[in-house]
Amino acid sequence: MSYERLYKYYDRFVGVCYDDLSSLISSVLGAFDISGRVLDIACGTGELTKRLCDLKFDMVGLDLSDKMLMKAREKCCAEFVKGDMTDFSFDEKFSAAVCTLDAVNHLDSVDSVESFIRCTSDALKSGGVFIFDINSPYKHKEILADNTFVYEDDDAYLVWKNEYDGDKGRVEIFLDIFERSGELYERSHESFFEYDYTPEQIIDMLNESGLEVISISGGFGMEDIDEHTERYFIIARKAE
Ligand SMILES: C[S@@+](CC[C@H](N)C(=O)[O-])C[C@H]1O[C@@H](n2cnc3c(N)ncnc32)[C@H](O)[C@@H]1O
Repeated sequence: MSYERLYKYYDRFVGVCYDDLSSLISSVLGAFDISGRVLDIACGTGELTKRLCDLKFDMVGLDLSDKMLMKAREKCCAEFVKGDMTDFSFDEKFSAAVCTLDAVNHLDSVDSVESFIRCTSDALKSGGVFIFDINSPYKHKEILADNTFVYEDDDAYLVWKNEYDGDKGRVEIFLDIFERSGELYERSHESFFEYDYTPEQIIDMLNESGLEVISISGGFGMEDIDEHTERYFIIARKAE
């Protein structure tokens, strides 16, 4: 299971403006007049869940990692549930679901993405809205590629090294984290894969699960799509 070590550092190095992301999601939910319970699938450390709670959405977070969930529970009194995004069900139906920051790219096969979308559709009420993003194959091939990135703050140093495998359509991400401990640094290591999925594949899967695509845009909902799009931001809706 990944994130066993990264959970401690995730918020410090994730580099995403959750204030912007939560206001974008809130405005989309507002546009569809969504109220009621919202499911945050693969909620991680709950940064988005917490902000959507603050914006008065009634949130439930689901994640597979005990450590990420532990961090999430420290920040916010939303309900957090341990579960696999490819195999979950709830007794209740949700008004909306979100799944952000390329969590979908962590799934290692088309079958598992199909299962994820089917479970999500089953968990939604009729007319329920599903908002999620995926990293593009372009980002995996050209941006993450075989590149190395370094991030540093006052007491930690992160080396993020990638290995792209075009034949397998995936990039392996190796993270070495050095945390200051007195005069020395303590090193820990984590690795996981991100897999390529195209918007066309995702649209087919959504349609097969009774979810109609409302829009696909670039970045976090603001950009047109072109061959350099790094992130697809997808809004879908369950048929009434
Ligand atoms: C990149 S983080 C995104 C976290 C959060 N959505 C955010 O926006 O910060 C990916 C998350 O997906 C979770 N994850 C990966 N595979 C999963 C699975 N099969 N079921 C549930 N969660 C999973 C990881 O534990 C991790 O918390």
